[in-house]
Amino acid sequence: MKITIIGTGYVGLVTGACLAEIGNDVFCVDVDARKIEILNSGGVPIHEPGLQELIARNRAAGRIQFSTDVEASVAHGDIQFIAVGTPPDEDGSADLSHVLDAAYSIGKHMTGFKVVVDKSTVPVGTAQRVGEVIREQLDARGVAANFSIVSNPEFLKEGAAVDDFMRPDRIVIGCDDDRHGAKAREMIKRLYAPFNRNHERMLYMDVRSAEFTKYAANAMLATRISFMNEMANLADRVGADIEAVRRGIGSDPRIGYDFLYAGCGYGGSCFPKDVQALIRTAAESGQHLHILESVERVNEQQKQVLVGKIVKRLGEDLTGRRFAVWGLAFKPNTDDMRAASSRVLVAALLARGASVVAHDPVAMGEARRVFAIDFADQPEVLERLSYVDEPRQAVAGADALVIVTEWKAFKSPDFSYLKTQLKTPLIFDGRNLYDPPTLAEQGIEYYGIGRPEIALTTLEGNADVIA
Ligand code: UDX
Repeated sequence: MKITIIGTGYVGLVTGACLAEIGNDVFCVDVDARKIEILNSGGVPIHEPGLQELIARNRAAGRIQFSTDVEASVAHGDIQFIAVGTPPDEDGSADLSHVLDAAYSIGKHMTGFKVVVDKSTVPVGTAQRVGEVIREQLDARGVAANFSIVSNPEFLKEGAAVDDFMRPDRIVIGCDDDRHGAKAREMIKRLYAPFNRNHERMLYMDVRSAEFTKYAANAMLATRISFMNEMANLADRVGADIEAVRRGIGSDPRIGYDFLYAGCGYGGSCFPKDVQALIRTAAESGQHLHILESVERVNEQQKQVLVGKIVKRLGEDLTGRRFAVWGLAFKPNTDDMRAASSRVLVAALLARGASVVAHDPVAMGEARRVFAIDFADQPEVLERLSYVDEPRQAVAGADALVIVTEWKAFKSPDFSYLKTQLKTPLIFDGRNLYDPPTLAEQGIEYYGIGRPEIALTTLEGNADVIA
């Protein structure tokens, strides 16, 4: 089938590459000439496992092309995917200008029947606005309306997006209940048929419910995380182990194990933005989302939890202290720094006079970019942040190691080596990577999130209770 993808961000590129992989003829368009240039010279502007190979293979096979030519892109696809960004506005609502610009271009140039698919995460009612913008353009040209809008939200996780697309749990499809809607539904059904494994993955519903489903899913997941973070903070106070509690409750099939990991807060492009947007949508319709407002507040506080533990142990003034920070990306397998907890942590350490030596397996380039923006008016503070290529270089001479992202490379370090390198054998772990008794045996003072603080049993046999 002939497919156009508008927007070459995470969602657009993954969607385009995966649809090309199953044999479609895909045309990706972006107004950002720099991105298109990178793609046309064999590069990929983002880090996503497997994506570069997928794009290279399909480009070589002539199944995917990249262009800034909007008119050609509208002419190409019978199905037009809108996969542009919806960044939060000042007030937290989703900025739809890119989505509506895409609709405008489609209306301005289209001939023949088009299915327009909203893939971007957009508030309930956006499909209707997209339809209005297209219709206005068609009216201005004196052309009859010959299109249908479909809402097909994505559920891709960064770092696993290709796999998520290729092996979906569900494909949510919101269609209109009219003649054009029925035609659109048939075309989308055919497009996604190869992704049905074992059983039907497609869930058909009305357009508004499909739009809502995406927000409700992310809000529910964010709620689970904030809930567990609050339980972990309580576990810290009452001396329970959140990891044991997680297993204890996750084994109940009504609860399940996923998304119950306590940590130093969730980040990324989706949860913070979507929770805020849903709160905003509700406010506009006169409803207060009490639970989600708390979810957001708890998460903001949770991004400070490591700083709180550090200050409690080392004091408010960290002047002259050096911290090794492992992990900057908001989660592993991505270079995405949007709303990353590391930004709050690093800023708090620097503000208290400390210096930070950071390492991340892939996000250091992006980190340099975002910290330069975050500290644009405090260059003298930014000088105390440096980057190293290897995790072990960061710990040499550091007062403590702080872990912010759960990259695999950090999961089983050589603790005896770490102990010799750190000035004080002290680890603050924002992702609960290690087993507290093992660290106590190694003589390392260890602070996790909701994990028990265990008396050190050093090799010399000195037992010391951690304060
Ligand atoms: C999320 C949704 O999972 C995906 O379905 C949607 O399409 C986009 O938003 P993503 O933002 O890529 O995906 O990352 P995800 O793996 O969901 O993690 C989000 C954040 O939550 C990360 O910062 C992660 O560290 C944190 N998290 C996740 C926890 O703190 N605890 C958990 O148990 C799970």
